[in-house]
Amino acid sequence: GQASKLRAILQSALDAIITIDSCGSITTVNPATEKLFGYEQSEFLGRNVNFLMPEPYHREHDGYISNYLATGRRKIIGIGREVTGRRRDGSTFPMHLAVSEFQIDGERHFTGIIHDLSAHKATERALRQAQ
Ligand code: HEM
Repeated sequence: GQASKLRAILQSALDAIITIDSCGSITTVNPATEKLFGYEQSEFLGRNVNFLMPEPYHREHDGYISNYLATGRRKIIGIGREVTGRRRDGSTFPMHLAVSEFQIDGERHFTGIIHDLSAHKATERALRQAQ
C-alpha cells in the first residue's frame, strides 16, 4: 500500500530526511541521517535538532523557528540554503538544507532534507588547485 511505498522511499533516500515538531524536537529520521551524522535512530528522537549544527546556529536555531512561527517570514522554507552541519565526532561539513512545513491534527511540523556537499566541495578545491 501507500504507507509501505512511503517507507521504502524514506529508507532508500540518499539524502538525510528529518522531521521536527514546532519546538524543534526530532520526530523521525531516515537511515541516511544516521549515516551522515553518525548517531543511531534512537539517539535522534526527541532531541532538539540544534545538536546537529555548530555555533552560532546551535544557539540561535530555536529563535529561528519561533521567529518564523510568530511572523510567517520564511528565511529557508521554500528557498533552501547552504549551511554547516556537525557530526557526532565534532567535525563540520557543508550541506544544502531544504525545509518544508506540514500539519498533523492541527500541529505544525517541519521536514528538513539535507544534501551533503562535502564531496562536491572537495572536488571543487582539487580542480582549483590543479589550475
Ligand atoms: C531556519 C540553520 C537544520 C528547520 C534556519 C535558518 C538557519 C538554519 C541559518 C534561518 C535563520 C534566519 O535567517 O532567520 C540550520 C542548520 C541546520 C538546520 C545549520 C543543520 C543541521 C534544520 C532541520 C530542520 C530545520 C533539519 C527541519 C527538520 C528550520 C525551520 C526554520 C529554520 C523550521 C525557520 C523557517 C525559515 O527560516 O524559513 N535554520 N538548520 N532546520 N530551520 Fe534550520
